[in-house]
Amino acid sequence: MKILVVGSGAREHAIAWRLTAEGAIVSVAPGNGGTPGNVPLHALDVAALAEFALRERIDLTIAGPEGPLAAGLVDRFGERGLKAFGPTRDAARLEWSKAWTKDFLRRHSIPTGAAEVVDSEAAARRAIARVGVPVVLKADGLAGGKGVFVVTSTTEVDGMLAQLFGLGEAASTVLVEEYLEGPELSVLAFTDGLNLAAMPPARDYKRLHDGDRGPNTGGMGGYTWPTYATAALLEEVDQRVLRPTLAGMRSEGHPYRGVLYAGLMLTRDGPKVIEFNCRFGDPECQLILPLLRSGLGDICASVAEAALDPGQVQWREGRTFGVVLAARGYPEAPESGDPIAGLDQLPEAVVAFHAGTRVDEVGNVVTAGGRVLTVVGSERDAVYAAADRLSFDGKQFRRDIGTEVQALVGAAR
Ligand code: AMP
Ligand code: GLY
Repeated sequence: MKILVVGSGAREHAIAWRLTAEGAIVSVAPGNGGTPGNVPLHALDVAALAEFALRERIDLTIAGPEGPLAAGLVDRFGERGLKAFGPTRDAARLEWSKAWTKDFLRRHSIPTGAAEVVDSEAAARRAIARVGVPVVLKADGLAGGKGVFVVTSTTEVDGMLAQLFGLGEAASTVLVEEYLEGPELSVLAFTDGLNLAAMPPARDYKRLHDGDRGPNTGGMGGYTWPTYATAALLEEVDQRVLRPTLAGMRSEGHPYRGVLYAGLMLTRDGPKVIEFNCRFGDPECQLILPLLRSGLGDICASVAEAALDPGQVQWREGRTFGVVLAARGYPEAPESGDPIAGLDQLPEAVVAFHAGTRVDEVGNVVTAGGRVLTVVGSERDAVYAAADRLSFDGKQFRRDIGTEVQALVGAAR
């Protein structure tokens, strides 16, 4: 199978790594310093990607990030007779419009926090005054992970409103949402619109520093199978969130195909949706794919053909840990251009997925972005040993990924 992977992060490296291991011929557009078969095309240039796929007789295209899906990659590829994995633009609205999604959740009685939708700073201020702090402000549109502000004190309101409305178009509509408490859980599923196969649940660490302090990031690491993701909880998520969402999307005329990613807050009143993503999570993808026993290419092809057999999605036992190594200055202003040492000395049991890397003129791998590598393995200590050994100037990473699980090892699973 010839497969085109669209994107340039560690998520896309993990997808390409997996497909290559399955014997597929893989191209990645545009890719990074670790991905095979790089093609210098922009991930949002859907027309050029389709030309490439036609010319190279690509059998299947998998879009990693939300941008190309929101830009209609699956629709445009379909018009040209090309198979592509992911939701159509209309179905991807579950990620690209938080206001539409909030209404959708209400229409279908799917649990989520209460929210007011407003379209001016003055109206946002009035809503915040009504609800009180803590409260959460969210840009309606895609904001590259920068569109959510958790307001914990009234002194933060002015600054956060300024940043939020400073986002421009993405924040022309804003949600003022009830603050929810509880552990967070990411539940992802492959779905062809009707059938679904859930993936191992994962916990993602969004804050930059240990103890969930510091600014929000794209994700600093995580692990699969948090102990609080019990079978009963996952059954509840299946019945109250995933299946009603797919049924709602079908009944409203835009069946959802691809990866449905539910970001959940496990509150005292049960799991509530804080967001949907229309794609694999990053870093969740890097944690989850090493546990997949079945063929990823075959699963994605079945999804794209609306013929997924959930029985074809089999998982290995066990848990994975992943730690993101980020560049100095991330997330505000990451430095780049620093050589990375140690990539060729990784132990067998650990893999380093590339994100912000590139190969320079003399063949060295150097940093080229905020999140540089995701180090993944099934032993937490081995992952951290590798994270320590890999080196580049300004490397920063969290030390506390998966600490709570390590304390419980052997107890729950
Ligand atoms: P999102 O980009 O929607 O995943 O939001 C980023 C982070 O903001 C989440 O991972 C949560 O930690 C936090 N968050 C989002 N919505 C809420 C909420 N309603 N209550 C509390 N925290 C939230
Ligand atoms: N891990 C969060 C995301 O992919 O959006």
